[in-house]
Amino acid sequence: MLPSKVFSQIKYCANGLNYRKNSVIASVLEKANVGDSTEVKGWVKNLRVQKEFIFADVSDGSCAQRLQILIPKSLKTDSLSFGSSVHITGKLSKSPRGQVELVAENVKVLGDCVVSDGYPFNPRTSHPPEYIRQFIHLRSRTNYISSILRVRNSVSKYIHDFYSSQKYLNIHTPILTSNDCEGAGEVFKIQPDSEETVKAMMQEGRDKDTVYFGSKTYLTVSGQLHLEAICRGMGNVYTLGPTFRAENNRSRLHLSEFYMLEAELAFCDNLELLQDHIEDLLKYVYRETRNTNEADLCLIDKENSNTPDWLNKSFITLSYDEAKIILEKKKIASTEEGLNKEQELALVEYCGGVPVFVVKWPKDLKSFYMKECPEDSSKVDALDLLAPITGEIVGGSLREDNYDKLKSKLPSDKLHWYLELRKFGNIPTGGYGLGLERLLQTMCRVTNIKDTLPFPRWPHNCSM
Ligand code: 4AD
Ligand code: MG
Repeated sequence: MLPSKVFSQIKYCANGLNYRKNSVIASVLEKANVGDSTEVKGWVKNLRVQKEFIFADVSDGSCAQRLQILIPKSLKTDSLSFGSSVHITGKLSKSPRGQVELVAENVKVLGDCVVSDGYPFNPRTSHPPEYIRQFIHLRSRTNYISSILRVRNSVSKYIHDFYSSQKYLNIHTPILTSNDCEGAGEVFKIQPDSEETVKAMMQEGRDKDTVYFGSKTYLTVSGQLHLEAICRGMGNVYTLGPTFRAENNRSRLHLSEFYMLEAELAFCDNLELLQDHIEDLLKYVYRETRNTNEADLCLIDKENSNTPDWLNKSFITLSYDEAKIILEKKKIASTEEGLNKEQELALVEYCGGVPVFVVKWPKDLKSFYMKECPEDSSKVDALDLLAPITGEIVGGSLREDNYDKLKSKLPSDKLHWYLELRKFGNIPTGGYGLGLERLLQTMCRVTNIKDTLPFPRWPHNCSM
C-alpha cells in the first residue's frame, strides 16, 4: 500500500498537473476553467505585438495546439522572442472567439533564442523537410517533426492496445543475436571496442569474430525466430522494437535502424487468417490515431484532413502471378524476379489506392522458413502488403512446420534450436513484420522515412 501522500501526488500527475501546479497545455485545454490560476512552461512559437498586449503562442509539445498568452506590455522582457523558452503564470480566460487563453501575471524567460546567432528556424515560415533534416538536434522545435513524433507516440500506444485487447503477450526479443533471420546478409557485426578486452579474451583461444560471445554476433534484423520459440510455448505473441539492416541503401524508404512490429499467431494454418488480422490491426490503429491526432495529421499534410477511402473498404488480394500479369498489361513488367518499388506502387494504384496483399510467392524469392504451398511446391505461403506512398509495409508468411522440409532448407547448423521447435509439441504458426516508420509514412503522407523518427540512421549518417 502506498503512503497517502505519495498517492495524492500520483493522482495529481495523472491529471497532467505536477505537484507544483505546473500544467501541460494538452490538459489545460482539455479541462480549462475560466479564472483558474495556471502555470505553463514551453517555447514561444509566435509573437504579435498590439496596442496594450503582446500575444504569444506557446507550445510545450504535449499537443498540436498552442496556448495563446496575453502579456500586458508592462510585463514584456527584451529576451522574450520567437524560440525562447518561458515560464508563465496567470489566469485562464476565453478570447472573444471562445478560445482558451492565459492572461499573464508573471513572465520569466528561461532561455533566450537569438535567431541571428544561428537558430535555423524563422517564425511564420514553413521550412521544407529537406532543410529541417540538416538540424536533427533542433528539429523537434518544428511543427512538422513534433506533429510526426506525437503521431508516432499514439501509433505505438494503439498498437499495444490492439494486441492487449486480443490477449497477445508482448515479448522483448533480443537486440543481440547469433542468427541472420532473413538470410540476406544485411547484418551489423558486434565486437568489443576495447583492444584490452579483445586481447585478454583472445588469449583464451578464440578468434576475433567470436571473441566475446563465442559465436559471431549481430544486431537483430528480425525477432521472428525468437518469437516463434515463445509462441510454441505460450501462444499469440508480438514485439515492437529496434531492428537493424546493413543495406547500402539511401532511399527515401530505408533506414539502417528502424522499429519493427512483429507478431506470431499460434495455431495459424491459413494465410487468410493472417491477412484479416493485419487488416484489423491497421484499420484500428489508423482510426484511433485519426481521432486523437487530427490536428497533428493536418499540420503534417493538409491532405490528411480527408479520410482515406480504404479505411472503409476491404484490402485486396492478388497472387504473385496475377500481379505479374497486371504489370505486363500496364507495360511495366521487368525480366527481374520479384517486385521493384515502381511496380509495387503501380499495383497499389491499380487497386485504387487500397492496400493490396500479394500472396503465394515463388519459393526462391523468399526466406527459408516460409511454408510450402500445399497445392504448388514451387510457391510459398508468403504475403507482402503494399500500401500508398511506400509500397511494401508488411512482410509475412505461414511458417514451415514440417520437420523434414525445414531441415532440408535450414541455412546453418547454428539454427538447430529453431528446427527443434518443430520436434516437441509443434503447432502451425504464421506471422509478419510491419515497419513502423513505413506505416507512419503511409498514414501521415510523409515522403521521406528519415522524418518519421527522432534520430534517423542511414549509410554515412549516425551523427548524434
Ligand atoms: O519483409 P521483412 O524483411 O520481414 C521480416 O523481417 C520478417 N522476418 C518479419 C516476420 O515475419 N516476423 O521486413 C518487414 C518490414 C518490411 O515490410 C518493411 O516495412 C520494414 O520491415 N523494413 C524496413 N523499414 C525501414 N528500413 C529498412 N531498411 C527496412 N527493411 C524492412
Ligand atoms: Mg520484405
